[in-house]
Amino acid sequence: MPLNKDSLPNTFLVATLLCLTCALVVSAASVTLRPRQLENAQLDRRNNILQVSGFTPEEIKEGGGIKKVFESRFDVEIIDLDTGEDARDECQAAMNKAKDKEVNLAEEYDQLWASKVNPDKGLSEKLDKKTDVCGIKSREKFSEVFIMNSTDGKPELYVFPVRGNGLWSLMQGYLSVKPDFQTVVGLTFYQQAETPGLGGEVQNPDWKALWNGKKIYDNGEVKLAVIKGNKAGNDYGVDALSGATITSNGVTNMIDFWMGSKGFGPFIEKMKNQDSGVSNTPAAGGNNVK
Ligand SMILES: Cc1cc2nc3c(=O)[nH]c(=O)nc-3n(C[C@H](O)[C@H](O)[C@H](O)COP(=O)(O)O)c2cc1C
Repeated sequence: MPLNKDSLPNTFLVATLLCLTCALVVSAASVTLRPRQLENAQLDRRNNILQVSGFTPEEIKEGGGIKKVFESRFDVEIIDLDTGEDARDECQAAMNKAKDKEVNLAEEYDQLWASKVNPDKGLSEKLDKKTDVCGIKSREKFSEVFIMNSTDGKPELYVFPVRGNGLWSLMQGYLSVKPDFQTVVGLTFYQQAETPGLGGEVQNPDWKALWNGKKIYDNGEVKLAVIKGNKAGNDYGVDALSGATITSNGVTNMIDFWMGSKGFGPFIEKMKNQDSGVSNTPAAGGNNVK
């Protein structure tokens, strides 16, 4: 008997088969492309680290590409944010336990993910309202720190991963500082969804250039802030983005948190003590656009 193409059951059968086939193709593509997506995301973050450290696209190209330049110039440390001490082994153990397999930290340690894992797993801690000045709610226990070495092996600058809420989005980026832990080299964002032309100007190269040479601490307190009408070029202030006070405040709060005692403060204090025996405890405060 010839198949009745127009019958209702056959129409449903064809539609169902089509849906199943499409779902299968999409799932297979998603699973097989996942490693490549992760690799590309990491490459993009490395590229941002290079750029915030002063490498031009031409220098990266001449040096053999992002991966080669990054690996030849940077060490990646994993620290315990509470103590500032090296904590690669502890991080490895906690990640293996959380994922129930042997994890390749270099490729698979995602700090944002770690910050949201149940604190029982030893990868994160909840932040109380007073401490959480940049609105991230919980913070990872372990963080990467990228150290750029000169050709004779001396640290030339440190790059810290930073993040905080703007108006619409979580802004994720890197802050690079000189080994005095006082002078900024640059700030960049690899992920943000603020309004283009307003908060999105955080990615404007002219605005980012304003950060170079700014100072972070005054008497152990984080003083660096995004300030409205900072035309005088004060050492501790960067011009606020016009029409984007909320995003500007978000950047100030982000710097305040990550350079303070709940962020990289303990690491910075440890490094300073190692170098000179001087103690200078940075504390989290609550700067806003002034
Ligand atoms: C469509 C739209 C998009 C906006 N996007 C942003 C933004 O990305 N960041 C921000 O701080 N303010 C943004 N604002 C403005 C805020 O609502 C608020 O008015 C502003 O932060 C105040 O800044 P000002 O004091 O510099 O004018 C936006 C407003 C509108 C109407």
